[in-house]
Amino acid sequence: MPANPSPLTDPTAEDLRAWYRVQSAALAHDRPGEPVPSQAAVRAGLTATGSRRRLVLWLLRGSGDDPVATAALRLPDAPDGEPAGGPAEIQLTVHPAHRRLGTGSRLLATVTEAATDAGCGSLAAEAVSGTPGEGFLATRDFLPVTRLTWQRLALDEIPGQVGKLPEVPHPGYRLTAWEGAVPDALTDAFVSALRALPAPPEATGTLGEPRWDPAGVHETAELAARRGDRLLTVAALHDDGEVVGYTTVLLPGDGARRAHQYDTAVVPAHRGHGLGLWMTSEMLRRLPAAQPDLAEIHTGVPDDNRQLLAVNTALGYRPLHRSVRYRLRLRRR
Ligand SMILES: CC(C)(COP(=O)(O)OP(=O)(O)OC[C@H]1O[C@@H](n2cnc3c(N)ncnc32)[C@H](O)[C@@H]1OP(=O)(O)O)[C@@H](O)C(=O)NCCC(=O)NCCS
Repeated sequence: MPANPSPLTDPTAEDLRAWYRVQSAALAHDRPGEPVPSQAAVRAGLTATGSRRRLVLWLLRGSGDDPVATAALRLPDAPDGEPAGGPAEIQLTVHPAHRRLGTGSRLLATVTEAATDAGCGSLAAEAVSGTPGEGFLATRDFLPVTRLTWQRLALDEIPGQVGKLPEVPHPGYRLTAWEGAVPDALTDAFVSALRALPAPPEATGTLGEPRWDPAGVHETAELAARRGDRLLTVAALHDDGEVVGYTTVLLPGDGARRAHQYDTAVVPAHRGHGLGLWMTSEMLRRLPAAQPDLAEIHTGVPDDNRQLLAVNTALGYRPLHRSVRYRLRLRRR
């Protein structure tokens, strides 16, 4: 590996194929038995990016031009042009045939330097528990911030699971659903709900609070559409028109049979009314019609979110694997 590899400024089709070779080999090795994302999905993740994050990529090749490792650094791009200061996210991957030779460490040094130069205050990274990534980050000054349980529900189990749920009335509340961007009439209420949710532990302190505004919410939906995916949301509304909770699922556009469930959250003032279970079971009822060839849904839940783990378990979700989110404070230049 060169002492200081240069970022990949304009990836060619061959670079993207090489990138995919590293990713698919690593995923098959580190998460045996789990579906490997398609080349189209990995390419879309690299080429369709949002305006609030700048993606810097490194692709390392060995002798014979074989791809050896990849690194992706997601830098927060402040819309007002101020220095970033917030967290950058990294994803380092070394092909399983080339590990334990120091490549990951040297790539980490390159990426850390780039993030420091960009004015970032910290790096965020995630590793699957029990894989080398965990030992790698833990022995390189990253501190664990959040532990997650990844859960999966086979969709052919949904009718039985959802049918078992008692029909509990939720006086004062109703459900609504949309695909893609939040409808204009609900945008402000939806943004208010997002702002009323406590920030996750990795977003506190020097890592900076997530900033929600209508443009950001719409951009999330546009980004999914540009990648060819569909975003479904089920939300709970209070009688006064307030959005008090939501759950969102990404339906893959590349023919993959696994949907990914993003956040499921209820604003603190409306917890304890069974809204999480109500919204999630409504989402599960809708999924077979929304994308009939789906086989399963999966989601990552922070271990301290006991309520959501209980909701999902009641609906038949089962643990798949665990992961740890880490952060590393960067020194200021
Ligand atoms: C983590 C990863 C990037 C390391 O790449 P690498 O080229 O092997 O890294 P290095 O050779 O520089 O360092 C290897 C370190 O990984 C850790 N490691 C490797 N295998 C390990 C194992 N079986 N158990 C525990 N730790 C292990 C150790 O800290 C090891 O350091 P050491 O060799 O000094 O003991 C690589 O294993 C990988 O791609 N994993 C999958 C993706 C991932 O988890 N990325 C990290 C989070 S972004």
